Amino acid sequence: MTERNTVLVTGANRGIGFEFVRQYAAQGWRVIAGVRNPGSADALRALGADKVEIERLDVGSVASVDALAAKLAGQSIDVLINNAGLFGDFETQTFGQIDFAQFDTFMRTNALGPLKMCEAFTPHVKASAQKKMISVTSQAGSFALDSGGLPGMYFYKSSKAAQNMIMRTVAKDVQAHGISVGILSPGMVNTTGEELPPERRFPGMLEPPESVAGMIGVIAALDSATTGSFIRYTGDPQPW
Ligand SMILES: NC(=O)c1ccc[n+]([C@@H]2O[C@H](COP(=O)([O-])OP(=O)(O)OC[C@H]3O[C@@H](n4cnc5c(N)ncnc54)[C@H](OP(=O)(O)O)[C@@H]3O)[C@@H](O)[C@H]2O)c1
Repeated sequence: MTERNTVLVTGANRGIGFEFVRQYAAQGWRVIAGVRNPGSADALRALGADKVEIERLDVGSVASVDALAAKLAGQSIDVLINNAGLFGDFETQTFGQIDFAQFDTFMRTNALGPLKMCEAFTPHVKASAQKKMISVTSQAGSFALDSGGLPGMYFYKSSKAAQNMIMRTVAKDVQAHGISVGILSPGMVNTTGEELPPERRFPGMLEPPESVAGMIGVIAALDSATTGSFIRYTGDPQPW
């Protein structure tokens, strides 16, 4: 009998992370959903305890990541998805009114979080059949695309650029273990959980099912030839 594929998703409580959980569970995968607060994970619980295992995980805490890695020691994880992320607000990331106290939180969540997750879960991913580490990042971290034209947002943009460089470097460090790394751009996704009126919809905005279905296809196609690449949810290369 072949073992079920296993995926671990961080920031699985809502938005893109929740949609990854929903779609992988529907495909019959064993799904481990990392959330900061299991007590408020009602939507995940509603998917069924037989489908989704909910685990406490704060990617900004080294102790929290180590605790989950230890709890899951000896279990293989085919796909690790670093999805948890912090966007913040425009006001406190606008030149002239920057709230400098927030910088560390952004870097800890968006850049160091994925690095710590990859380091702590290398044994689990190495032991799996598929051996993939994924980061959901953003074109906001792209120099070539001028952050997609996004103004301000200093902490978000710089932490995503750092995340890109970290994952690119991780790709080289885990290559010897046969692990492939995908650095994914999900597009602009409506994660408000509401249907947006036309005046609040940006051109080209996606709903989570379309973006995540695309990324699941990209993850399935990822291999040692494409490891370390920055890839759009469509499968197209994303310029750095
Ligand atoms: N939506 C977009 O258009 C878009 C575009 C480009 C890139 N992305 C990236 O895609 C990813 C998901 O975005 P989203 O729009 O789904 O975001 P979201 O709706 O704001 O959800 C973010 C998730 O990350 C979790 N999280 C935040 N800090 C965490 C931490 N320290 N430890 C663990 N979990 C943490 C949140 O947990 P709580 O529920 O506990 O707050 C939440 O579940 C992010 O990395 C984001 O930067 C999104």
